[in-house]
Amino acid sequence: MPNAIIVGASSGIGRALAKELSRDYDLGLAARRIERLKAVGEDIGGAHVAKIDVTEADARERFDDLVESLGGVDLVVLSSGIGRYNPDLEWEDERDTIDVNVRGFTALATAAMEQFEASDGGHLVGLSSVASEVGSPTMPAYSASKAYVSRYLEGLRYRADDDDVAVTDIRPGFVDTPMSPEADRFWECSPETAASQITRAIEKEKNVAYVTRRWWLVSKVLGLLPDRYRASVM
Ligand SMILES: NC(=O)c1ccc[n+]([C@@H]2O[C@H](COP(=O)([O-])OP(=O)(O)OC[C@H]3O[C@@H](n4cnc5c(N)ncnc54)[C@H](OP(=O)(O)O)[C@@H]3O)[C@@H](O)[C@H]2O)c1
Repeated sequence: MPNAIIVGASSGIGRALAKELSRDYDLGLAARRIERLKAVGEDIGGAHVAKIDVTEADARERFDDLVESLGGVDLVVLSSGIGRYNPDLEWEDERDTIDVNVRGFTALATAAMEQFEASDGGHLVGLSSVASEVGSPTMPAYSASKAYVSRYLEGLRYRADDDDVAVTDIRPGFVDTPMSPEADRFWECSPETAASQITRAIEKEKNVAYVTRRWWLVSKVLGLLPDRYRASVM
């Protein structure tokens, strides 16, 4: 079986994706909460687990160790991320969001690309968001960090044009996870539905995939709306 690593597998979309991908891949699971990772591993019949904080200086080294323990990697999913409601623009919240979603994301994305380029190629999948497409008045660092994720993945895809490297940008709308505890938001889906649609996008090596697929429509509408209405959509 091919090998896959999910960073951010201790909760939400990453955890649901671990279940989906365990049918076709030997898995390496990473996040900070190692006990939760072990429980996810037991749930899916076994996985390599590693404690990785993507903001720490040793994150790339720990990722490389996980690759080594798996004996190589074919697919890397970067699902780790934070999103804090921050209407008062508290600097600590904005800083932490940038640390995890921008700096930490880039640390792991470059580590994954190094692995792919040193072997027979591979597939990098990043979790962006529909929020990447409109500035959020209450979570500005979050929406900006996801715009960064999408543009960064696009750059990696263009860079990898002639190689055996695929790059997929996943843009969920609302998914019912600990990150977004508000109940009953429109077009909200379960982490399991998100994981199943992400798996399909991975199989098809999509460049960009909206989750659920109907969020593509929101993206198009966002592009047409006058400024004063755009912020109220997300
Ligand atoms: N839920 C939504 O509505 C939604 C919508 C659009 C996009 N997304 C994106 O989807 C991804 C997954 O979100 P989710 O909804 O599944 O949220 P979640 O349930 O809160 O899961 C977030 C994951 O990120 C990990 N993480 C956070 N900080 C980390 C760090 N410093 N180092 C390593 N791992 C870290 C967490 O693990 P530990 O705490 O154990 O480290 C956890 O496994 C995120 O990138 C999010 O922005 C979510």
